[in-house]
Amino acid sequence: MSILLNNHGYDNASWAEILGELLPEQPLYIYNQLDNETLDAIASEIEYAVIWNHPAGDLQRYPNLKGILLLGAGTEHIDQDNSVPDLPIVRLIDPEVLNDMALYTLYWVMDLHRQFSVYRQQQQQGLWQRHDIGQPRDFRVTVLGLGAVGKTVAQRLHNNGFTAQGWDRYPQQIDGISCYEGDEQLATALAETDVLVNCLPLTAGTRHFINDTRLQQLPEGAALINISRGEVIDDQALLKALDCQHVSRAVLDAFAIEPLPEQSPYWQHPQVDITPHMSGATYARSAARLIADNIRRIENGEAPFPLHQHPSRIAAAS
Ligand code: GLV
Repeated sequence: MSILLNNHGYDNASWAEILGELLPEQPLYIYNQLDNETLDAIASEIEYAVIWNHPAGDLQRYPNLKGILLLGAGTEHIDQDNSVPDLPIVRLIDPEVLNDMALYTLYWVMDLHRQFSVYRQQQQQGLWQRHDIGQPRDFRVTVLGLGAVGKTVAQRLHNNGFTAQGWDRYPQQIDGISCYEGDEQLATALAETDVLVNCLPLTAGTRHFINDTRLQQLPEGAALINISRGEVIDDQALLKALDCQHVSRAVLDAFAIEPLPEQSPYWQHPQVDITPHMSGATYARSAARLIADNIRRIENGEAPFPLHQHPSRIAAAS
């Protein structure tokens, strides 16, 4: 019984080393070091696929596969592969990463609330000028998408005195936080927003979810933070809203194309802050422990978690 590791586009070596320490009984193969022939030769040994952005169709090659463990929280890569075998698919939800994403958001919400960008500009001009602001409890942050990330972010903002509220397609509950739900309540949530934080996963239903109409439902001068996926935002609509100052600032950590192409208008935009998809980067050591624990669970006949429902199976069941 072996593990196939494919941390596509990222470091495989440190993961291989740490998983090797945690699961010494499981031989491990690194996918991109093997050619097709070798993969076919070892296919029946593979019981666990530990993967990120794995080529569609390849998982069918391994007849004895018992579980698919993703190296990230997002599932859009695997969701697009309709040939994925009907096995447990486990997301990587690491509390360390959730904490980082909540801190990243808190940092930018504080920056936006205190107007630090204005003071940075004033310093360049040698200008000593204070600006009045409202209290944090009057600064309303709306978190779109109340999964593990959105809930943690909303709670952290609330615990730091901001008025956090959430919206999700389905009913959600978070202590002390107003949660809106469904299409009919979205406009109300957007209208009460100083900063909109996008935590929606990328699915067929959320591509370009933040579009012209929804941006226009925000109050004049609201800001946007995106810590999810670039494709949830309609870039043309956002650029238009920024250019006419309807959206005052955008903090973007995720983009439709990554790395962000050199010619993207976001790079030079004076109202945009860019970070290279680092709001919640995975820590191999803590995340590998979660993956090893889930592999042990499957070996012991227990359910791994958190499980992800592949969209093709939800469609088949309904
Ligand atoms: C990162 O973007 C992830 O999905 O974990």
